[in-house]
Amino acid sequence: MIRSKIAGVGMYVPKDVYTNNDLTRYMDTNDEWIQERTGIKERRYAKRLEETTTTMAIEAATIAIERAGITPQDIDFIIFATLSPDYYFPGCGVLVQREMKMKEVGALDIRNQCSGFLYALSVADQFIKGGMYKNILVIGSEKHSFGLDFSTRGRNISVIFGDGAGAVVLQPASKHEQGILSTHLHSDGEHAEVLAMYNPGTHGNHWANGQAVANFDDVEMGQAFMSHDMIDMAQNFPNMDGQTVFKKAVVKMPEVVMEALNANSLTTSDIDLLIPHQANLRISQMVQKILRLPDEKVFNNIQKYGNTTAASIPIALCEAWEQGKIKEGNLICLTSFGSGFTWASALIRW
Ligand code: COA
Repeated sequence: MIRSKIAGVGMYVPKDVYTNNDLTRYMDTNDEWIQERTGIKERRYAKRLEETTTTMAIEAATIAIERAGITPQDIDFIIFATLSPDYYFPGCGVLVQREMKMKEVGALDIRNQCSGFLYALSVADQFIKGGMYKNILVIGSEKHSFGLDFSTRGRNISVIFGDGAGAVVLQPASKHEQGILSTHLHSDGEHAEVLAMYNPGTHGNHWANGQAVANFDDVEMGQAFMSHDMIDMAQNFPNMDGQTVFKKAVVKMPEVVMEALNANSLTTSDIDLLIPHQANLRISQMVQKILRLPDEKVFNNIQKYGNTTAASIPIALCEAWEQGKIKEGNLICLTSFGSGFTWASALIRW
């Protein structure tokens, strides 16, 4: 069977660096708390008007396409993962198609938050393996800075996230032993509200800490999608019970890595580089410890960029590749966990 391979990888992060100390201008926080709990030292924020989730994606995609040795007109399918789209609808995929002057190819938008890139990669992999497409552009991009609560009320979440984009081009592999060996996708909706942005939405509830505490049935017809009350109650910002997320992530990420290894009759000692979703450095360190991997086999860059959700894995993959940490023949393992909850892994023979 034909396998798919990553033929080109690219990334883009905005120029503007915000250190932990910079955040103290907006909220009651401090460098020590943030570094101790998350490992993050700084993150990038997009220019407020000039840069969007799509413009950052195009920067990353341009590099990935060039490195794959093709042009935007060769792309025959687009898959775009983000939780911070330019518009509520349509998704960003069609904007990439338009701005990069691509042919009238299909564009699919993926909503799986921190697992978005791996879900997207898995879908692309099936299309290549099935022979339907030859050059698929897979993107993860986020502009979190536009939608975070920068007051003290939102500090447990806003300090974690950053902006950026990563992209890969998937093509059929020419060498038999090369390419994506397998992908593994999971979900458990029991904790859907534990890490969520509740509004705008059609459920009509006010949520707090994962519990519905009131509804908006007194709001006028047509106003309930996004009312002033919802804004007063900070419903337009992400909400997170961080400890529940942490506890689940450190179980599910090692589990899905082992699932991938077992499916390919490999062991942890076969991994050359593990690239975990950059949720929190403490989560990555715990996953590393459980899998008993040495430091040089785990790649982290959350210290510089924060958690960029769907963009974190392709950004880390790109940076690791640019630093010469990924070489032909290496076994690369990607794994993610996030809102949903969803979690995933991919094993790649580079
Ligand atoms: N700066 C300073 N103090 C803060 C703060 C901040 N940015 N955010 C919260 N605090 C305070 C809280 O108000 C609380 O104070 P109190 O004890 O006086 O009430 C205290 O710190 C502890 O808050 P808590 O939320 O219990 O902290 P925690 O130890 O759970 O750490 C996280 C919070 C978010 C860092 C941690 O839960 C975590 O990393 N979870 C995983 C989150 C994650 O990875 N999300 C992305 C998923 S893809």
